Amino acid sequence: MRNKYAILIICIVALVIIEKENNIISRVSDKLTLRQTGQTPEPPPFYNGTSAPVVVEYDAEGDDNATQFLEAGDGSQKHILLLAATRTGSSFVGEFFNQLGSNMFYLFEPLWHVERMLSQDMDIPNATVSSLAYRDVLLSLFLCDFSLLERFISPTPQEHVTPALFRRESSMALCEEQVCSPVVKHLFERYRCKTRRCGPLNLTLASEACLGKEFRAIKTVRVRQLETLRLLVEDPRLDIKVIQLVRDPRAILASRMVAFSNKYQTWKSWAVNGEVPIEDEEVKRLQGNCQQIRMSAELGLSRPDWLENRYMLVRYEDIARYPMQKAAEMYRFTGIPFTSQARKWILKNTHASEVASGVYSTQKNSSEQVEKWRFSIPFKLAQVVQDVCGPTMELFGYKFVDSEQTLFNKSISLLEEKQFNL
Ligand SMILES: *[C@@H]1O[C@H](CO)[C@@H](O)[C@H](O)[C@H]1NC(C)=O
Ligand SMILES: *[C@@H]1O[C@H](CO)[C@@H](O)[C@H](O)[C@H]1NC(C)=O
Ligand SMILES: *[C@@H]1O[C@H](CO)[C@@H](O)[C@H](O)[C@H]1NC(C)=O
Ligand SMILES: *[C@@H]1O[C@H](CO)[C@@H](O)[C@H](O)[C@H]1NC(C)=O
Ligand SMILES: *[C@@H]1O[C@H](CO)[C@@H](O)[C@H](O)[C@H]1NC(C)=O
Ligand SMILES: *[C@@H]1O[C@H](CO)[C@@H](O)[C@H](O)[C@H]1NC(C)=O
Repeated sequence: MRNKYAILIICIVALVIIEKENNIISRVSDKLTLRQTGQTPEPPPFYNGTSAPVVVEYDAEGDDNATQFLEAGDGSQKHILLLAATRTGSSFVGEFFNQLGSNMFYLFEPLWHVERMLSQDMDIPNATVSSLAYRDVLLSLFLCDFSLLERFISPTPQEHVTPALFRRESSMALCEEQVCSPVVKHLFERYRCKTRRCGPLNLTLASEACLGKEFRAIKTVRVRQLETLRLLVEDPRLDIKVIQLVRDPRAILASRMVAFSNKYQTWKSWAVNGEVPIEDEEVKRLQGNCQQIRMSAELGLSRPDWLENRYMLVRYEDIARYPMQKAAEMYRFTGIPFTSQARKWILKNTHASEVASGVYSTQKNSSEQVEKWRFSIPFKLAQVVQDVCGPTMELFGYKFVDSEQTLFNKSISLLEEKQFNL
């Protein structure tokens, strides 16, 4: 009898642990639901897989509503787009805004749905098609219109209600009382609210909540080129500020090798034995990523007219070292008041010792965390990153190492003091 209980408890603990690894379980259960329903997701109507992408035509309705609201409002809505790459600390920095309080509508990676559906449609998603879809979805979301995003959510929302919005619980606004509908029995929700018991997300309610807020922020790691957002930035209905978050590419690689261990087997084998084939696809991909980040930053820092006062570059390392000061700078840049609630969150979460250091954990002693990678990346791989990401590292002020001793010696800083947004 006792044994039975013990086994049951072990199973529950295991499930809880697995559940925490959100990423894994979400992918697995996505596959399952798809298989169960035998449903192939319908491609979004503006894209038929063969032709040139057709820019989505915004149905007058959604737009009219948003426009009416803007005209009726006092025109003080502000929009923040937090642009980053994966493993740059963007979840953490996103919280700086998510925690602002009741006047903020924050969304965590809504483009996840778009990327996922486009990759189901095509073996290798076409970057042009993706970037147009990303831009259009971001625009509509900033206008509090979820209808375009709905076309990418799988399974398709029924009457604008979905239990499957990616990481809903990471958005305080999507879990507040106003957006909380009754729990539906026996309906499994991966991304259910943690702060209160809510049923599936009613996107009509979400949209209403969004319209009622002055400030809207979206975090994304999926936009590759700042250039592709021009139409969004220039849209007269929005007052948008773009914050690009960057991090030492050596640290990003080190972090990815831990977080996405399976995908980085090749890198691990290179670290252990032999030369790194510089012509390898993996290395090329790293180089391409670095280039795109650099091109976006160069564009932003060159201050073209359309980005005047709308672009800010922030290094994750600086945020980790001076979280409060950097948060205040970001808030000043966006023109949004930095509330005491947001300050409290930052204080609590940057001084806290290393509690749950889950893969997507935001709670960490940030100044200590920021140097950790130096001991987890083999010197050989650090060299590869320096070889292919050199210009990017120079632009952001990340110093090269020429030996393992330098890499491991913490009294040598790898960070140049640098001011970007002068
Ligand atoms: C895709 O759409 C384009 C433009 O709307 C059209 O010309 C083309 O025939 C379509 N292709 C398919 C396979 O439906
Ligand atoms: C992506 O699609 C566009 C428009 O259909 C096409 O011009 C371009 O060559 C495609 N790119 C790739 C890499 O397939
Ligand atoms: C505005 O939104 C409401 C509710 O979402 C909808 O019923 C209406 O048709 C929309 N369009 C206009 C022009 O009011
Ligand atoms: C979603 O919320 C709207 C607005 O309150 C409501 O009219 C609608 O019935 C809700 N949808 C469902 C399926 O409950
Ligand atoms: C955070 O880490 C830094 C660097 O190791 C250390 O000096 C500081 O005391 C730590 N803070 C807390 C609250 O643990
Ligand atoms: C680390 O670097 C400092 C400053 O260059 C140097 O004085 C020290 O000897 C180095 N420590 C080791 C273990 O190499």
